[in-house]
Amino acid sequence: MAAGWRREVQRLPEEAPLPEWVAQLDRLAFGAPWNRLAPHEALWVVPELAFARWARVPAAGEAELLRIAVAPEARGQGLGRVLLEACQRDLAAEGLVHLFLEVRPSNHSALRLYEACGWESCGRRHRYYTDGEDALLFQRLD
Ligand SMILES: CC(C)(COP(=O)(O)OP(=O)(O)OC[C@H]1O[C@@H](n2cnc3c(N)ncnc32)[C@H](O)[C@@H]1OP(=O)(O)O)[C@@H](O)C(=O)NCCC(=O)NCCS
Repeated sequence: MAAGWRREVQRLPEEAPLPEWVAQLDRLAFGAPWNRLAPHEALWVVPELAFARWARVPAAGEAELLRIAVAPEARGQGLGRVLLEACQRDLAAEGLVHLFLEVRPSNHSALRLYEACGWESCGRRHRYYTDGEDALLFQRLD
């Protein structure tokens, strides 16, 4: 199954409107969807099933994972990993090799995904989220 999804990963063109299913999955996973992509952002999708949204800083060779979500019915089958690895490959091909993200310590499935994809914890932001939970900082260096 994971091998099949690999063929489905697409990077959306920067000027493309945000698909409605992305907004719906964003709302479901995080409560409120972000709006259209800013010029420095990029979006990878497995249509109707998963998306990953990044902010890119080409001059610094850096990118930050803003959000990744898999549709609830497709979780736990390797799709998140296929999507994240595809993003990592594409970003590395652009020279963006210093990757960062923030994650809640309570988000065990996300922590497992990031560790499985070679990310390492590199710090903590205290009371970062609006509900008072800390954020763990993760990095991945190619
Ligand atoms: C986090 C999320 C993207 C993971 O996607 P997924 O497709 O379910 O993940 P995968 O099936 O590719 O699993 C990747 C790894 O994490 C592990 N994992 C995933 N979900 C897990 C869970 N609930 N419990 C334990 N391990 C889990 C898998 O075993 C796998 O590890 P392995 O490769 O060593 O076996 C998905 O759960 C999700 O959309 N969550 C809601 C949104 C969210 O919290 N996003 C992250 C914050 S930005």
